[in-house]
Amino acid sequence: MRLAEFIQKTTPIWKGVTETAELDVSVLIAHLLGKSRPWVLSHGEYELSSEEMQTLEQSLRRYKEGIPLPYLLGRWEFYGNEFIVTQATLIPRPETEMMVEQVLLWLREHPQASQVLDIGTGTGCIAISIALSCNRVRVVASDLSLAALRVAKQNIRKYALGEQVILTQSSLIPPLASRFDVICANLPYIPSARLKSLPIYGREPTSALDGGEDGLALYRAMFPTLPAFTKESCLIICEMDSDQSSLLAEMAKKTFPEAQIAVLKDLNGQDRLLRVELRECKSPL
Ligand SMILES: C[S@@+](CC[C@H](N)C(=O)[O-])C[C@H]1O[C@@H](n2cnc3c(N)ncnc32)[C@H](O)[C@@H]1O
Repeated sequence: MRLAEFIQKTTPIWKGVTETAELDVSVLIAHLLGKSRPWVLSHGEYELSSEEMQTLEQSLRRYKEGIPLPYLLGRWEFYGNEFIVTQATLIPRPETEMMVEQVLLWLREHPQASQVLDIGTGTGCIAISIALSCNRVRVVASDLSLAALRVAKQNIRKYALGEQVILTQSSLIPPLASRFDVICANLPYIPSARLKSLPIYGREPTSALDGGEDGLALYRAMFPTLPAFTKESCLIICEMDSDQSSLLAEMAKKTFPEAQIAVLKDLNGQDRLLRVELRECKSPL
């Protein structure tokens, strides 16, 4: 069967599954045929083999079942790099790229800083993006999920960063005898009850999304432990839901009364990041 005919015949399977179904399907077909999307759009006359048709149909059915496109592709872009993703990991989000941007800005202004901790690393997208853009840093990347760490390991191998990004399985902060210049955390922050009403529920790992009753259970446990792991001059940056900024800022203030605390908005104007900066006290002499 020709490609154009196949697309027409399978339209009832995928049409309307998401608002971007047409784009998604062309991306998926291009990926499965090992071609570019423009190639797919301009080669309707291409004769599909029966094997290709079977693979395409199977994937389109999984798409209809609600499996997100990045899982079907097995990869997704974040901060200009491609990461392996599986159903064991959260799909990296564009909002999180802001966290990388903030860290890199701070590292540029602090040329002595070299120790970074990424808590809840998932695919490793934050840790790896920082390491790729700043080769003097060493990043410790932790996650509670072994399955997610296996994916992060593949991504570290893909970018040959085995010397620079060190993985560790732990709940929150790994029990290391080190202090860090930068601590990033994109921990699960969606309140449990709300999560159940969202379309992503059951599609991405609950363990990467569920932040307990008010969404802040993990941050509440993390903040009081931070002083043992921060250097005198340090940047701490956490991702959150838009309505959590006051509570999270309060937690940070309680732990670090002297810190400079700021809430940063995402492109949609929603509070998204908490930025906590500790500054070394300079002696007046
Ligand atoms: C929101 S995802 C973030 C993944 C990745 N950093 C990103 O930005 O795409 C949260 C991650 O935290 C991990 N996690 C959940 N509970 C944790 C805990 N107690 N300690 C460490 N990591 C945890 C999950 O397995 C998941 O990979």
